[in-house]
Amino acid sequence: MKLIRKISSSLLFGILLYQCTQLTFADEHNHIYEDNEQVVLWMSTIGPYHNRQETYAYDSLPFCKGQKEAIDHYHETLSEALQGIELKFSGLDIEFKVPVPKTTVCTIDLTENDMKAFVYAIKNQYWYQMYIDNLPIWGVVGEFEDNNDHLSYYLFTHKKFDIGYNDKQIVDVNSTTDSVKVKLTPNAHITFTYEVNWKKSNVKFEDRFDKYLEPKFFQHRIHWFSIFNSFMMVIFLVGLVSMILMRTLRKDYARYSKDEEIDDIERDLGDEYGWKQVHGDVFRPASHPILFSALIGAGYQVTVVVLSVIIFAILGELYTERGSMLSTAIFMYAATSPVNGYAGGGLYARMGGRVWIKQMLLSAFMLPIMVCGTAFFINFIAMYYHASRAIPFGSMVAVTCICVFVILPLTLVGTILGRNLGGTPDAPCRVNAVPRPIPEKKWFMEPLIIILLGGILPFGSIFIEMYFIFTSFWAYKIYYVYGFMLLVFVILMIVTVCVTIVCTYFLLNAEDYRWQWTSFLAAASTAGYVYIYSFYYFFFKTKMYGLFQTAFYFSYMALFSLTLGIMCGTVGYIGTNAFVRKIYSTVKID
Ligand SMILES: *[C@@H]1O[C@H](CO)[C@@H](O)[C@H](O)[C@H]1NC(C)=O
Repeated sequence: MKLIRKISSSLLFGILLYQCTQLTFADEHNHIYEDNEQVVLWMSTIGPYHNRQETYAYDSLPFCKGQKEAIDHYHETLSEALQGIELKFSGLDIEFKVPVPKTTVCTIDLTENDMKAFVYAIKNQYWYQMYIDNLPIWGVVGEFEDNNDHLSYYLFTHKKFDIGYNDKQIVDVNSTTDSVKVKLTPNAHITFTYEVNWKKSNVKFEDRFDKYLEPKFFQHRIHWFSIFNSFMMVIFLVGLVSMILMRTLRKDYARYSKDEEIDDIERDLGDEYGWKQVHGDVFRPASHPILFSALIGAGYQVTVVVLSVIIFAILGELYTERGSMLSTAIFMYAATSPVNGYAGGGLYARMGGRVWIKQMLLSAFMLPIMVCGTAFFINFIAMYYHASRAIPFGSMVAVTCICVFVILPLTLVGTILGRNLGGTPDAPCRVNAVPRPIPEKKWFMEPLIIILLGGILPFGSIFIEMYFIFTSFWAYKIYYVYGFMLLVFVILMIVTVCVTIVCTYFLLNAEDYRWQWTSFLAAASTAGYVYIYSFYYFFFKTKMYGLFQTAFYFSYMALFSLTLGIMCGTVGYIGTNAFVRKIYSTVKID
């Protein structure tokens, strides 16, 4: 049953569009409570304070549950399962606007093993997360004291909730979990208690997440400074690129047109070099056309998905619903599959490719396989650790279903359209039958060097924002400055295109016509620098430790960087392609 529900819920992602227009779900989670209606306290996950992604189910520690068994509503979506959010009913009896004095939840007799588990958790600064009506609340398991080389461990046993309501909605929750502490001794008799106070509050329902937003962190001067910095870089680069190119191209054109008037002998002696020489090769299909067009197709798709998710996030305040960001991304990814097929299939056809089914499959499944591969790898470790990150079998089936029954057919449609509508070769210059040898050149004109240098400036324009993005993800701050992100995204794209065009110009001038891969990789190398930066971030900005968290961090960062690389590479290629077509279409070819 659970499986079927998950599959159907995942296939009904259309609901999300509804949600994105900022209407709330019209189901159990409409956030309206009548007096005395049950309010569910969900226990989510528990884990070490410094390893935010290493989470375990709350009941993996020997806490005990309240008496109340029945839950009026249950809620777990696919994206929550994928993010390892596990919700367990706390068993606490909470009713809307009904205060509860200090009440016993349950009592345990501490066994040897229970005590070991608690001591381990307290030593590692375990904390846990709870939700009331989607509002997150945090609590700490306990604390230890060091008196004369003898460590004593204390468990916090009392949970106090101060809930603010505004009319029929819950708008504010404060909790105190560290007011009563009990020393852990073998066979101790431990009683857990809770208490609920209700208070009228003037906070508006729409604003109830504001207190989590940490404006001090995100609206720090450095954020504005980074935008300013990147903006200046863009103006400088765009100016530089257009100036250099205009001047050089004009000079080149002048030289070439003069050449035609000079007789052949002089031309043989003269300075015949430069990008025009490779006009017979410049539109030669890239090597490995299947891989190349699949990358470009996937890149188109990722770019559209990222752009649309950022825009939805700006319009819809997606952070207020658990997991809605991921759901939107999955939905958008599935919905934009035709873009992938159209771009990749069309490019492949223009390059004269014939094994289009292979190309389409690679295009459609490259990213999903990368993502699933990473998730699978992490899953193994998570299962070993019994962490809540282990993805349930049902969710895996649901994701596979989305890939096979949604993404594949849509990509097929896109590919067929792309091959038929945009698949005719339309290069402005003919391709010679015999490839021209590539002349010897200076070491810094080698494609590899150009590729390595190409990523530096784009990385320079985003690395401050990267810090905020990393921090919001790895330290569970709620990222909400999507306007900034959009601006940075646009800046990154402009810088990438400018830099790639300059790189390609130098490459072609050195009479090396392998510009397609070079432009793609020069732009994509930005992501390589991002990955290197992530090492710095891990070692100097976080306190993560342990195999699970380390593996999780580096594999997801690799995935993030790869995706970013495909996106930047594609945008760089698109810009360069336009540029190359432009300069060669105006050259008169004899
Ligand atoms: C929660 O704490 C904040 C800050 O201390 C306070 O302004 C607010 O009134 C509290 N809310 C409730 C429901 O007690």
